[in-house]
Amino acid sequence: MSRPEQITLALSKGRILEQTLPLLKPLGIEPLEDPSSSRNLVLPTSDERVRLIIVRATDVPTYVAHGGADLGVAGKDVLMEQGGHGLYEPLDLGIARCRLMVAGPADARLDGQRVSVATKFVNITRRHFAAQGRQVDLIKLYGSMELAPLVGLADFIVDLVDTGNTLRANGLAPLEHIADISSRLVVNKASMKLRHDELQPMLDRIAAAVGHGG
Ligand code: ADP
Ligand code: PRP
Ligand code: MG
Repeated sequence: MSRPEQITLALSKGRILEQTLPLLKPLGIEPLEDPSSSRNLVLPTSDERVRLIIVRATDVPTYVAHGGADLGVAGKDVLMEQGGHGLYEPLDLGIARCRLMVAGPADARLDGQRVSVATKFVNITRRHFAAQGRQVDLIKLYGSMELAPLVGLADFIVDLVDTGNTLRANGLAPLEHIADISSRLVVNKASMKLRHDELQPMLDRIAAAVGHGG
């Protein structure tokens, strides 16, 4: 049954969920069922005022911007790619840290003639190369970008890099740094106004938990 008075927090399965739950636990917010195994997409928590919804990582900004959730946790990469319209982004949670990089064969040269780049981050990639006055042919992919140069689909990729293991395993190397990435708390603008008295103490406590002071 829908409880419109509850605060709704949108999370995605995987590293964002795993790394956000430890931040919520000190606030007394714990899912009542195991989110990684549950098929339920709406999860009640130990705080009856708060529920979690489970959405795709790239859908978190959409849910929050349109009021399907009051709060969410989204990677900075996703926010940069989509523009972050209609959202407040008050807090860097410092979780799911990685780097957005141009990568390719270790000996490949990025300068010179027109190159092709495969990525799911087409907007970020276009901006990155345009800022350097370089034109690239973009190839939109939805995952497994590291494969593209191996099979001749593209010269380079733009993807997230953490340990570098995925690049190394596929004979690729990081070539250019685009941005340092971490996950951000995002807040619906109307909720921030209308539910300020409920949300602000929660934001303050999460800020304290991630070391941003009160
Ligand atoms: P998806 O299914 O969309 O790939 P992920 O859980 O892998 O979802 O990624 C969610 C967010 O976590 C990304 O938007 C990014 O900010 C961050 N992230 C992705 N890959 C890594 C990684 N290898 N190490 C650390 N953070 C990552
Ligand atoms: C992410 C990203 C890279 C990899 C980088 O994939 O898309 O492929 O992590 O991490 P590394 O430098 O530590 O190897 P993810 O693990 O999220 O898999 P996915 O294809 O399911 O998104
Ligand atoms: Mg991923």
